[in-house]
Amino acid sequence: MITLNVKGLKPEFEQELNEILAANTEVLAKAQAGEEKYSDSLGWLDTEEWADDETVARIEAIAKEVQENADAFVLIGVGGSNNAARSVIEAIQKPGTTEIIYAGNTLSANALNRMLAQLEGKDFYIDCIAKNFETLEPGSSFRILRKALKAKYGDEYNKRVIATGTRGSRLDEVCQENGYTFIDFPTTIGGRYTAISNVGLLPMAVAGIDIREVRRGARDMQELLRSAGADQNIAYRYAALRNLYYRHGWKVEMLSSFEPQFKNFFYWWTQLFAESEGKDFKGIFPVTGEFTEQLHSIGQYIQDGENMIFETFLDVKEQQDSLVIEKDEVDDRFDYLNGKDFFDINKAAYEATVLAHSQKFPCNVIQIDRIDAYHFGQLFWFFQFACYVSCGITGVNPFDQPGVEAYKVRMFDALGK
Ligand code: PA5
Repeated sequence: MITLNVKGLKPEFEQELNEILAANTEVLAKAQAGEEKYSDSLGWLDTEEWADDETVARIEAIAKEVQENADAFVLIGVGGSNNAARSVIEAIQKPGTTEIIYAGNTLSANALNRMLAQLEGKDFYIDCIAKNFETLEPGSSFRILRKALKAKYGDEYNKRVIATGTRGSRLDEVCQENGYTFIDFPTTIGGRYTAISNVGLLPMAVAGIDIREVRRGARDMQELLRSAGADQNIAYRYAALRNLYYRHGWKVEMLSSFEPQFKNFFYWWTQLFAESEGKDFKGIFPVTGEFTEQLHSIGQYIQDGENMIFETFLDVKEQQDSLVIEKDEVDDRFDYLNGKDFFDINKAAYEATVLAHSQKFPCNVIQIDRIDAYHFGQLFWFFQFACYVSCGITGVNPFDQPGVEAYKVRMFDALGK
């Protein structure tokens, strides 16, 4: 389960928080029901809509085929077509399972050459995930990877090409014309909300993740948050708190964790909030803190720099790993660590950091029981819903991204598209 607590919220803010909570109950009710005006973007609100049993069974069958015939699987996708799957895979994939290699998320020749080098000597499949199949990064990577497949497998290469696209798109036609496996990119979900669909679940399944557990976590969170009233709804409370902080000049939210396993989840979260909320010259700027490492770099600014950051800690309750520091003959003056487990040392650092940072600004603490497939499902649905509600409070459309077009027009001009 997910819990939410707040540290360092000064008593004078409590009243204002209650006012925000009381004033926006309609925003919550509308999000719980799903607003008609966003009907082409709310396919994620019901977890089963794009991940019913039939879909999950097909994903599992394709994943099994890939696992049996390949050492590696190349996920070609960028942003919402990459981040959710990568969050889970990079955090909890077990050793000995199919290697997942990422492409379609860069235009760097160096990075792409390194990616191709990783494939040398390996049997592989590719999955091009693209909603409208106009995005430059996946489109260009798809080309070079088709060429690599053809060079290795000749005419049979097409059996190793999967594409996740929208029905009727050019990608769909390309699949029909060339005999590639086609699976649906949800027509009623934008990229960054597609974790629980073919987009996120197929790469996870290939990596050996229990995708039924991911779906179960999301569905449990959906049931909770779509029914809980304003008083008990933790996503609503989180959205209201963010709004309160924003009003008082804390315009940057730092999602921090002491578990490096969340590194790619941080990319997913950053995209979700930046692309959904940052518009109409409004919005909290999302950044992330990978601790303890970054306490030695940005920690100085957080504690002593301009007071514009509030923090949301992502904490894990249970101990899942253990490593004890034993007594050592070398007099290194670290004997105070003798017999201590890194789990407890890390927790001590975490608690000290929350204490120190909350002297300056409010800190949310979001805690999950453990890092596993089920809790990733919970986190995806929790933050997606909280983001929807938060955008409702600030009055922006959570599902469009007009700002990302400006550079593309100029880039496509320069490339002669
Ligand atoms: O959330 C979004 O809409 C975006 O981040 C897209 O997922 C991203 O731009 C990739 O788009 P596409 O799948 O069309 O290539």
